[in-house]
Amino acid sequence: MLQRRQLFQFAGVAAVAAAGGAAWMYYGSGRSTALAGGPFRHYPFDPVAAENFQQKLFIPVGSGPFGVLDVAGPLKIRAAAASFPLLPGRESPFLLYQTEQAGKAYQNPILRIESGARFTASLDNALKEPTIIHWHGLHTPAAMDGHPASTIGPGGRYDYDFTVRNRGGTYWYHTHAHELTAEQAYNGLASFFLVDDDDQRRVSKALDLQLGVTDLPLVIQDKQFDAQGKLLYKPSVHEAMMGWLGDIVLANLTPNAVQAVTPRSYRLRLLNGSNARIYRLAFVKGKTALNFTVIGTDGGLIELPETVSEAFLAPGERLDVLFDAGQAQPGEDIFLKSLAFDAMENEGPAGGMGGMGMGQMMAAMSSSRLPLGAEFNVLKLSVTAGERVVANLPATLSQVKPIRTEGAAQRKIELSMGQMRFLINGRTFKMDEIAFDVKRGAVEIWSISNPALGMPHPMHIHGFSFQVLERLNSPPQVASTARFGQGRTVSDLGWKDTVLVWPGETVRVAIDFAHDYPGDQTYVFHCHNLEHEDAGMMINFRVQA
Ligand code: C2O
Ligand code: CU
Ligand code: CU
Repeated sequence: MLQRRQLFQFAGVAAVAAAGGAAWMYYGSGRSTALAGGPFRHYPFDPVAAENFQQKLFIPVGSGPFGVLDVAGPLKIRAAAASFPLLPGRESPFLLYQTEQAGKAYQNPILRIESGARFTASLDNALKEPTIIHWHGLHTPAAMDGHPASTIGPGGRYDYDFTVRNRGGTYWYHTHAHELTAEQAYNGLASFFLVDDDDQRRVSKALDLQLGVTDLPLVIQDKQFDAQGKLLYKPSVHEAMMGWLGDIVLANLTPNAVQAVTPRSYRLRLLNGSNARIYRLAFVKGKTALNFTVIGTDGGLIELPETVSEAFLAPGERLDVLFDAGQAQPGEDIFLKSLAFDAMENEGPAGGMGGMGMGQMMAAMSSSRLPLGAEFNVLKLSVTAGERVVANLPATLSQVKPIRTEGAAQRKIELSMGQMRFLINGRTFKMDEIAFDVKRGAVEIWSISNPALGMPHPMHIHGFSFQVLERLNSPPQVASTARFGQGRTVSDLGWKDTVLVWPGETVRVAIDFAHDYPGDQTYVFHCHNLEHEDAGMMINFRVQA
């Protein structure tokens, strides 16, 4: 296996050298020529090499790219092709949501709004292809949700108008263009949607947090770049099936990012905005994984702060954490890392091929230099001198009322594979097909099971949040951190909209289908591995009035 991968990597380097002229001659030489001009070289951006982490983390400010926009009225949003210097000195074609408010221009703004407020926006499609925005995690009527059926053509417009019913939390928005979600999201169409409420303000106040200073939204994405250093999205048939992986890791669109911190607590609102990569996150000093405190998950604050030393984060999921940088001395570095794990793509149904499982075969065929489950760095925190501030966290963060499950209807959701694509209850997505009906106001328990011969799938619901009741038959790397009862890990606590289901596992979730929108409402449930979603690992369900 290893030999095969090495062989492949060698072939990859040779191909790059051929495409970029004498690029191989530069390979491995000093870093000064690496950052701008000349052929693109991967090594200076390799996230495995700690010494590469030298670029200042992009932190959202009051306008511009990823600027924080406090929504104060109707927004006109334009989805347009633009460019962005993802790698220093190298512009990449990039897709951006452009808008303005109070005379300030924003690209991919971090939208911030109060719980209970009305949100009104129009989307103008200035792209050459269809698109639509989905508000990930928000409870909206189906017509406001960005269902793939709402996709608008080039030149089209879509009007959104809904009340933000969600509690405070870290949500996000991204393209949901029918069968184009993966490529468009990868090429830029995604950002945060922050909802504020009293609980959130209480935590911010207790910890003296300030958005953009000590409260940092942090979207993690893996990308590939071509020989010119331009963003590359070119999945082979196999990558389209398994998911597209990058080999350069961006935090807030900054490769190999570093952020100076003082010895105090920082809130990091972690969002996995990657197409297919799962991260096993830990804060590491030297060889030691330091403690951090989880305060929230997908749908806002959890009840009690929970201290852990690692957590999985799958595509679409959020994890709100407090990290105390005072665990290191000034002058020391801490790395937010993705630790090694078993990608569990090893026992695919294909089997055969000289003893390789399908997953191994796929890894060998991946164009990414960074296989799923490899260890690498995401962000360097360099601790500088400053006043030691010890966090005074409220003992209770918020209330998460358990969904009452007495008498709840049970529903089986079976993931499987057939004809080179992943299926839900044996189905592949058909726009006009409703997989099942749910009664408005009903509480259901979904048992989502993933066959042992498969791969991990982050399963996501639109329109509602759920609570994870139980995890059964988890692999050892999950079971070993499952100290929250019923096999649950820290990522399963609180209100969720996305849950990672590992091969062999069954995850039971409770969903309350109460809402007050008129008539029937049709939403999707899908895998948030975006290549899987586009390939049809998605179903419609209808909530009947
Ligand atoms: Cu974030 Cu339907 O997805
Ligand atoms: Cu969503
Ligand atoms: Cu999947």
